[in-house]
Amino acid sequence: MPIADNIILVGPMGVGKSTIGRILASLSSREFKDTDHVIEARTGANIPWIFDVEGEEGFRTRESSVLKELVEQPQLVIATGGGIVTQSINRSLLQQQNCVVYLTASLEDLIKRTCRDKKRPLLQVGNPEQRIKELMSTRDPLYREVCSLVVSTESKSPKQVAEKII
Ligand code: S3P
Repeated sequence: MPIADNIILVGPMGVGKSTIGRILASLSSREFKDTDHVIEARTGANIPWIFDVEGEEGFRTRESSVLKELVEQPQLVIATGGGIVTQSINRSLLQQQNCVVYLTASLEDLIKRTCRDKKRPLLQVGNPEQRIKELMSTRDPLYREVCSLVVSTESKSPKQVAEKII
């Protein structure tokens, strides 16, 4: 059953979902949850390790089950991993929720924020700039398909973005 009062953040790696989500949770008296953090806490392993050992497929299975569980709880702000929309089962679930916010940023900002990041396995293969462009061209339509609101993070502090969402 969809719960009316959760706010779910979707969008690419490096857009600020976790930082904005934490502020949003405190401004709206909701609990903050991050699908990646829940997976890490449960497995006792970090995301790159999970990708290494179980592959992307193993990670996506874990991610889908965490998302399903979280949307059934009330009063949460949920930050999702950037690839959550790649799975049709997740997209169907997100489309049933009342408030899914797509956070956007320019490609330049995303590249600046993630290029030297060793914690994101999908950026470790090939040229990270090119990779971010490719990921955005396939995923942007998917974020738009599931969201109820699009909010740009450009020229705004995380607090300003959180206030705008509220
Ligand atoms: C991923 C994004 C990451 C994490 C994993 C895969 C992706 O989350 O879930 O590395 O496919 O875009 P963030 O968006 O929080 O970086």
